[in-house]
Amino acid sequence: MSALETLDRLPRLDLRGFVSPVQRLERFSEAIGIEVWCKRDDIGSVGLAGNKVRKLEVELAYAVSRGATHLVAEGSRLSNATRAVAAASAALGLKCTLLLCHEEPREPVGNLMLDGLFGADLRFVGDVSWHDLARHSVTVASELERSGERVYRLPIGCASERSCLGFALAYRELREQMRQHGRAIGTIVHASSSGGTHAGLVLGNALHGFESEIRGIVVAEDVYSDVVGTYLSFARGGARLLNAEVELTRDHIKVTKAYLGAGYGLPADGIYEAIDLLATKEGLLVDPVYSGKAVAAIIDLASQGELKGPVVFWHTGGYHALFDPRYAKRIWSAIDRLSSVAL
Ligand SMILES: Cc1ncc(COP(=O)(O)O)c(C=O)c1O
Repeated sequence: MSALETLDRLPRLDLRGFVSPVQRLERFSEAIGIEVWCKRDDIGSVGLAGNKVRKLEVELAYAVSRGATHLVAEGSRLSNATRAVAAASAALGLKCTLLLCHEEPREPVGNLMLDGLFGADLRFVGDVSWHDLARHSVTVASELERSGERVYRLPIGCASERSCLGFALAYRELREQMRQHGRAIGTIVHASSSGGTHAGLVLGNALHGFESEIRGIVVAEDVYSDVVGTYLSFARGGARLLNAEVELTRDHIKVTKAYLGAGYGLPADGIYEAIDLLATKEGLLVDPVYSGKAVAAIIDLASQGELKGPVVFWHTGGYHALFDPRYAKRIWSAIDRLSSVAL
């Protein structure tokens, strides 16, 4: 069986309910001078969707096949990944424990509130490093196992060599959709942190002879000491699971920290303009933590003639962060049209 056939037959759950559409962004494209499409992974059926759901479709099919009764996942208090795990656990009838770091927010907002609503057991571990967070998670997983649970542990961002195969499949899905529109994929631009999304898209592209460019816009600092090396190891590991004979090197991992700004969840040049432009031109929402930084990158790279079109902005979700009062306040004060309205 070829690697592509193995990929297509990969055991996976359906947590999205339908194939997310790809839509041409006519007015946004006109405004920035390059053809842009949007792959709408911000919509789906389980737990407000987003890119983590694609990873979980593959990873949790494996977990369930191994008899898992309890999922353990880790992330910040506002993590989209932990929210997706909590929602998927509810949908699959599994128990869920989440290890959450950072001190803020201390009020029940955004994903933190949803984690609890989906029935997860929340354990707060304070302001620890990503590395220490993983150690806490291993300890809790062992405790649960000793109490009789069959635990399946998901690492930060649910990124792994197996879960990235969800995005190798996603690449194929997009490729076919674009073909039906009579278009090829020039460049895919997406927000990146734990790397499963990037690794999977790179692998999908590799399986098709490196026909497009994949650009990851890094939105979190210090997730790994060697970002490129870690992303590459996921992609190579995914290739091994498929018995694929593709040569992947560091040069295939095209990620940039140029749009990170002041850090994870913090302002960056052009971020509010990007949120504003997409909202006013297309009625589409992106958040200031993840997908907004990818859109800011598209606008900037397009202005420098650095993008090969057609460009696909992979909307990885997370737009509900707009309703978090801390982000909402910043957006309100940054956008002239809003801040001039007296409340
Ligand atoms: C909305 C959103 N976009 C993008 C990403 C980055 O994806 P990855 O962790 O696969 O790099 C995340 C991960 O937390 C996310 O929540």
